[in-house]
Order: sequence, then structure tokens, then C-alpha cells
Amino acid sequence: MLNLLMREEVLLVVQNCYHIILVALFTIGVTYFASKAWKRATTNNREEIPGRLGLPFVGETFSFLSATNSTRGCYDFVRLRRLWNGKWFKTRLFGKIHIFVPNPEGARTIFANDFVLFNKGYVKSMADAVGEKSLLCVPVESHKRIRRLLSEPFSMTSLFAFVTKFDKLLCGRLQKLEENGKSFKVLDFCMKMTFDAMCDMLMSVTEDSLLRQIEEDCNAVSDAMLSIPIMIPGTRYYKGISARKRLMETFRGIIGRRRRGEETPEDFLQSMLQRDSLPASEKLDDSEIMDNLLTLIIAGQTTTAAAMMWSVKFLHDNREAQDILREEQLSITKMKPDGASINHEDLNNIRYGSKVVKETLRMSNVLLWFPRVALQDCTIEGHEIKKGWHVNIDATYIHHDSDLYKEPLKFNPQRFDEQKRPYSFIPFGSGPRTCLGINMAKVTMLVFLHRLAGGYTWTLDDLDTCLEKKAHIPRLRSGCPITLKSLSKTVLEA
Ligand code: HEM
Repeated sequence: MLNLLMREEVLLVVQNCYHIILVALFTIGVTYFASKAWKRATTNNREEIPGRLGLPFVGETFSFLSATNSTRGCYDFVRLRRLWNGKWFKTRLFGKIHIFVPNPEGARTIFANDFVLFNKGYVKSMADAVGEKSLLCVPVESHKRIRRLLSEPFSMTSLFAFVTKFDKLLCGRLQKLEENGKSFKVLDFCMKMTFDAMCDMLMSVTEDSLLRQIEEDCNAVSDAMLSIPIMIPGTRYYKGISARKRLMETFRGIIGRRRRGEETPEDFLQSMLQRDSLPASEKLDDSEIMDNLLTLIIAGQTTTAAAMMWSVKFLHDNREAQDILREEQLSITKMKPDGASINHEDLNNIRYGSKVVKETLRMSNVLLWFPRVALQDCTIEGHEIKKGWHVNIDATYIHHDSDLYKEPLKFNPQRFDEQKRPYSFIPFGSGPRTCLGINMAKVTMLVFLHRLAGGYTWTLDDLDTCLEKKAHIPRLRSGCPITLKSLSKTVLEA
């Protein structure tokens, strides 16, 4: 009886409020579908590329910093996220959304649209440290002109003199180390070799105390490039900016002496100053010359030295490759008079050696990825990218992709006998920002391999494979210590 009464009451309420309930249901339905459509319209891109953005601004910054601070290196951060999310993933670092682009097609899209759809992000500390006229910071129009004018001294033919000088310097220093008989760190050795050779080629500085002062200041500038730009004494930024001031003074002094005719050596700087009387579009002003001298030293030294160090490590771990390389170098040396320097023709004959260089660059990935910022909304390989997102061409992944390289973890120089797919081998980047020092890096590595494998055997004195902490260029924490043994002694002993 009571039940019947309640049911009737409910029916009464429904009848009286029929319209209200209908409107309420309609409103809930419309709100539900509208909110779904709105969400799809606004977050469509984000849903397409998986990955965690984490908290606003902070995102996954701490995980990234933790990987950078570990001996596995900062690429471990990328590697793990690929495992979790798949090839394409997004993350948020220092308040910016980052996409890691994992394939040659994506790389081609970005390289082909450099300066148009994508550009390097502006980093204040970098512009303050290397200078606003640096190739790394200038806008597209200046970039074209400055790059064109800087390029000539880095062409293959202009590097003949560099090759001879580098070869002599290297032979002398290797011989001393071997006679000394002690273990030495390849990384330190290569840092000094590349630095001294570059300063000689760029501005004929050869005096050791001046070289060491410039090197110390360049290191401070390099450290300040990605620092917090606040001028507080003791900070990396403060030290870098102070070092930059000293470097500019040194460069200004050298330029002054050249202009007064007190010094006229044939080098990169002199070739820039010889353009003084040309129209503005055909020359660089002093600040452009000085900022780019600094840029060239910083961009060239650590990269080349790290690659040289890795070649020693990989060849140590792969005796077969080392033996083939050695044989090739000995056959080249045999054809030349005793003690003769290596020349351009010899370099062309180092065929296996140049494959060792390529394989070293593929395996070591000196520059792990190449960062760009999207200048407008666009798509890369069907993935929608929003204006302001950071897109990183992931050279490391491309170089280790088993679809592109069979047994990618194996050091196998012979794999370069085959033509590679476009944009699948990009250690020097591509497009308008291709490495300016590509020829210099290659000849430096070739001469090094020729003299090392052709003159010596070596033992690796620390097998630790951990990477240096806080480094953006992967390098062995141990510095790759080796002890040299001259081949002539090895033959005598045998
Ligand atoms: C093994 C050694 C080297 C490697 C792996 C390397 C790699 C690269 C890569 C990948 C880029 C392009 C980065 C991007 O697209 O964001 C680049 C740019 C550059 N590199 Fe190298 N580099 C090496 C040696 C050198 C040397 C020896 C010099 C100079 C003497 C040099 C000077 C430059 C400059 C000035 C740029 C900027 C070019 C521009 O923005 O137009 N690099 N390098």
C-alpha cells in the first residue's frame, strides 16, 4: 500500500516537472558533446603524439637534469621515453614542449624548411656569450652573407696548408708521448691538438701561454652559453661574460696589429681583413669577425676532439677494423719518402679510414640532436606541431635505427660501402646550417687516424664505459687513457 502511494507520488512529480527534466537532460547532453568536441579541437595535436607533459613549466625537467647528471648521459632521458611511448613522443622541458623527430623523412622536412618554418631558438645567454653576430644567433639575411664569407677558408682546397701543419704538430706530439712511455688521456690530448691547430689556422697564434689563456677563456664562454643570464660574480654566466670581454680585447689587439701592417701571416683572419675595401655586402665588420672567430673555436674544438677520442675507443674494441686501417696507412706511408708530410692526394687514398671516420660519427653522435623551434603551426610526417614547440632532429635515434643500419650497435666501417638513404647519416646536419667545419673535422680525423694507426699500437688503460656527467657531448668519463707503442718497436720485439 505504502509502495503504491510512493510510486504515484513519483509519477506525479515527473508529470509536473516533465519539461524541466527534458530541458535538464538536453542541456547535459549538449554540454557533454560540446565539451568533447572542444577538447578534440584544442588538444588534438597533443593526443596524437604520446608523452607526458607533467606539471606546467616544470614538466619532466628534473628527470632530464637527472639523466644529464648521470654517467649514462642525457640521451638516456630520450631513450627511456621512446621505450615508454614509441618512436614519436613529446615532453616538457624548461617550460617548452619538445618533440623528438626520429626518422630521415622528418629530418628532411625540418632541414628543408630551416629559417622558414623552423629556426634555432633564441637563447639569451648564448647570444651574450658568443656574440649577437655569431652564425649561431644572427637572423636569416645576415646568416646567408656571413656564412658565404666565412666558408671559403674552410673549403677542401683552402685546407691544404692546415693539413700539413696539423700533420707536423701531431707527429711531434705523438712521438714525444710514445718516448715518454706513460699513459695519457686521449681526450685531453685531442682537445689541445685541435685547439692549437685551429688557433694557428684561424689567427696564427702559436705561443703556448697565449694559447692557454685563450683556451681557458673559450671554455668559460662555452660553459656560459646555456646558463642563467644574471650577472652575479661567481656564476657561470658572469665568468663567461668576463672571459668574452678578455677574448674580444685579444682579438681586437691582433686585428689592430694586422691593420697597422705589423703582422701579415696568411690565415683565416687575414683573408677576412683583405676584404676591408670591398662593399659592405662582401665583407664582415670587426664585430662579425670577432664573434665568429670565437664561434668557430667553440664549435670546432670539443666536437672534433670527442670524435677523435671515440675513434680510438672503437678501434681498440674492434681489432679487425684496427688492423685493416693500419694496413691501409702503412701502404700509403710506404709509397712516400721517409718523414714526408701527408698531402691532399694521400687523404683521398685513405678509403677505409674515411669509413672509420663515418662509422665513428654514426656511433658516437657527438651532437645528439639538432634543436629547432616551429615558427608556425605545421605538420611533420602527419604529426601536428604547434607554433612555439621545439622539434629536435634526433640524429642519435636515426643513426641507431635497425631499419636503417643492420646491427646498429656493431662498429662496422664497411657498412659505408653501400649508399645510405638520404638523411639517414647526418652527423654534420644538413641544409643552410650544415656544419661549416665539416671538411676541417674530416681531414683532422683522417690525419689523426693515419698517424695513430700507421705509427703505433696502443693499450686502453681504463675500460670504464661511463660517460662524463653534465656533458652535452658524450665523452668517456675516463678521458680514454692509452699507452702508445711505436710500430717499429713492436716489429723488433716480434
Ligand atoms: C666531428 C666534428 C664536428 C661535428 C660532429 C659537427 C657537427 C655539427 C652539426 C650537426 C652542426 C649543425 C647543427 C644544427 O643543425 O643545429 C654544426 C654546425 C656548425 N659547426 Fe660543426 N661539427 C664538427 C666540427 C666543426 C668544426 C671543426 C668547426 C669549425 C672550425 C665547426 C663549426 C660549425 C659552425 C660554425 C656551425 C654553425 C653553422 C651554421 O649555423 O650555419 N664544426 N656542426
